[in-house]
Amino acid sequence: MLRLKLAHILVLVGGLGACQSSDPTDHDQFVLGQALFEDGRFSADGKISCASCHRPEHAFADTLPRSIGAFGRETRRNTPTLWGLPTDLPLMADGGVPPLRSGSLSVLAALTAHGDMAFDPRSLNQKLKAYPMYHQLLGRLYPSTDPASAYLRTLHRYLLDLSEQGRQASTGNTPLDPPLVAKGKALFEGEAGCFRCHNGEGKTDGAFYNLALENRTKEEGRAAITLKEEDRGRLRTPVLLNLGKTAPYFHDGQAATLRNVLEHYQHGAGEAGRWQGDSLQKEALLAYLLTL
Ligand code: HEC
Ligand code: HEC
Repeated sequence: MLRLKLAHILVLVGGLGACQSSDPTDHDQFVLGQALFEDGRFSADGKISCASCHRPEHAFADTLPRSIGAFGRETRRNTPTLWGLPTDLPLMADGGVPPLRSGSLSVLAALTAHGDMAFDPRSLNQKLKAYPMYHQLLGRLYPSTDPASAYLRTLHRYLLDLSEQGRQASTGNTPLDPPLVAKGKALFEGEAGCFRCHNGEGKTDGAFYNLALENRTKEEGRAAITLKEEDRGRLRTPVLLNLGKTAPYFHDGQAATLRNVLEHYQHGAGEAGRWQGDSLQKEALLAYLLTL
């Protein structure tokens, strides 16, 4: 990862040097965003980067039920995918962070909400000064802003790029068994009732529900933001994209496989109700989920 990052930075330095007077290009922003995303030196222990948990090869999710943050601390929740994230979706499982569409301040709020990562946004300017390469590159991309704001804007642009790329990539997932997938899609949108919440871009309505999952992590859910008792345990409908790469599932990673997820819906999933599908229907639904 380090090799890739340095190679990218060299390309970027060369590129910017060659066209200093022009606006920062999309490519420059993307390359620098990726380098920042993959650089562990911004965490409190200097070891954990965004990519340690949002792993590019897993659609920017993690394979652990809960990720390991700075100083070996476990995250409170399962790391979600960032690949194809809708830009108007309230962020985090409790919706406590404004959507990406609202600008780079949403990245600041997201970083602050990542308690476990021990990223302290207040120390950003100081950290960036210690890395003259970043300081200089950010200064060239955003000459009229301070380095910390330029860092946030660059990461914001990078997240928007991941959002766009992920949406395009997911349309390329080719079904192995088209008739089975068509059956699964019909179930998802029809009698299985999934579409009631998993609708819209990224298959999420952006609303909050309690699925009566075992509450091992003392999950407060949406109530942490609204302070309303009825919101206790309610979580935002997650994005369903590239599901084949983002196991385990649910807010604390308690479902190891998609089959386990469907079993929960079959047993009765709180506000999502109970889905009484037979085993063939389950296979069809699984086949469809894997094409999203
Ligand atoms: C230690 C693991 C870890 C690291 C490091 C990490 N994240 Fe996260 N990220 C998470 C977890 C866990 C969540 C879900 C938290 C929640 O729902 O409360 C999350 C959620 C997010 C979300 C919201 C996604 C959604 O669907 O609402 C964004 C955006 C995000 N992270 C961006 C970043 C960026 C940018 C960095 C680096 C600066 C980063 N993350 C570093 C674990 C991590
Ligand atoms: C009432 C709204 C609602 C309905 C109906 C619903 N879901 Fe969900 N779904 C959610 C919420 C909320 C979560 C997150 C729960 C959690 O993490 O604790 C979720 C999580 C999931 C996940 C895990 C995603 C991940 O990355 O962790 C999958 C897969 C899923 N649902 C598929 C389905 C299928 C298939 C159906 C239909 C049988 C369905 N859902 C019906 C609201 C709903």
